Amino acid sequence: MTPMRILLGGLGVRGRHWADVITRSSRAEIVAYADPNPAAHERMAEKYGARPSFASVEEALPQLEDVDAVVLANPPIGRQAQVDACVARGLPMLIEKPLALDMNEAARLVETAEQAGVPLMVGLNFRYLGVTKAAIKLFADGTVGQPSFARFTYERYRDGNRPDLNKYPLTMDQPMLWEQSIHHFDLMRYIYGQEPVTVECRTWNPPWSMYDSDTNVAALFTFADGMVVNYQGTWQSGWAEPHFEWRTDCTNGVVTQRAQFGDLYYAARHEAALTPVELPPHELWITETQGLLDAFIDSLTLKTPLPCSGRDHLMSLAMVQACAVSSRESRCVQIASVLPPKSGDF
Ligand SMILES: NC(=O)c1ccc[n+]([C@@H]2O[C@H](COP(=O)([O-])OP(=O)(O)OC[C@H]3O[C@@H](n4cnc5c(N)ncnc54)[C@H](O)[C@@H]3O)[C@@H](O)[C@H]2O)c1
Repeated sequence: MTPMRILLGGLGVRGRHWADVITRSSRAEIVAYADPNPAAHERMAEKYGARPSFASVEEALPQLEDVDAVVLANPPIGRQAQVDACVARGLPMLIEKPLALDMNEAARLVETAEQAGVPLMVGLNFRYLGVTKAAIKLFADGTVGQPSFARFTYERYRDGNRPDLNKYPLTMDQPMLWEQSIHHFDLMRYIYGQEPVTVECRTWNPPWSMYDSDTNVAALFTFADGMVVNYQGTWQSGWAEPHFEWRTDCTNGVVTQRAQFGDLYYAARHEAALTPVELPPHELWITETQGLLDAFIDSLTLKTPLPCSGRDHLMSLAMVQACAVSSRESRCVQIASVLPPKSGDF
């Protein structure tokens, strides 16, 4: 099979993960880079090899003949021009989460691609972690029965001024929700196979926060089957040691994930100790991104439904938006109420 020829747009932190994954894959290759920052091109060429370089996807595409798809890892701000350029060429897109920082804008991007019949996948790499697959299997096997309620805790001190981290979250609205919780909310829908119905949420910023907007999220979600998830996330933990625990209480026991990228256990109700679940080896940011790229290529070559589609992503973004509304208005929010109407007048 000839490798898929990819234009890589956005050469920052996440663009470098993508360059690593694509250059290691036998199923894809980078044909050109697009980024307005010359220093980003230099870094990329030095590490992953020189390629034709452009300031933007819009500038690159008219000059490139041999390109099969576009991977976009630019900030989620103003992606319409890039999506329009890809759609004009009929090129499938794999775009980093969150698709946009606004529900209406995200819905417009999805509709642009859908109306042109061009695939648009969102970079939800956490779905492709070994631990995610193992958790889905545990629930499907009914090892400890049916999930009933859960506690999802993510505590991190994210130094937004660290030179190797992106800077736009420092000044954006609700950075924790849009940049980080989006992964967690998407995983809840994916792992439980249920859609969320309501949320009661409060967001806030601790006094020492370096971020302009809220880095703390406390949310109580109810899902369609009655499942309740108690979520607490922070980027400005009081302790720099990260802590993660996602514990699901089931009809006959618990399933608990104790690290973001692994550490899965279960126990029946009266067992004194947790049983560890064997997981495949994992290379941070790479293994699961390889899984995402393979799923993209598989779907395009086998012509099967696209996983992590833009349309599906809108429901996870609706969880984010509903949290922001709930906190601002101090009320319980129906999650579907923040979804823009399909093919509507946004
Ligand atoms: N899936 C994940 O695990 C994961 C991890 C980190 C970041 N991300 C996502 O990746 C995206 C980028 O984040 P980042 O951390 O790499 O940010 P970053 O700030 O490190 O890099 C962004 C790069 O995009 C470039 N850029 C800006 N406008 C552009 C445009 N119009 N066209 C092309 N390039 C443009 C910038 O010059 C910069 O080099 C965000 O959506 C972020 O949420 C996802």
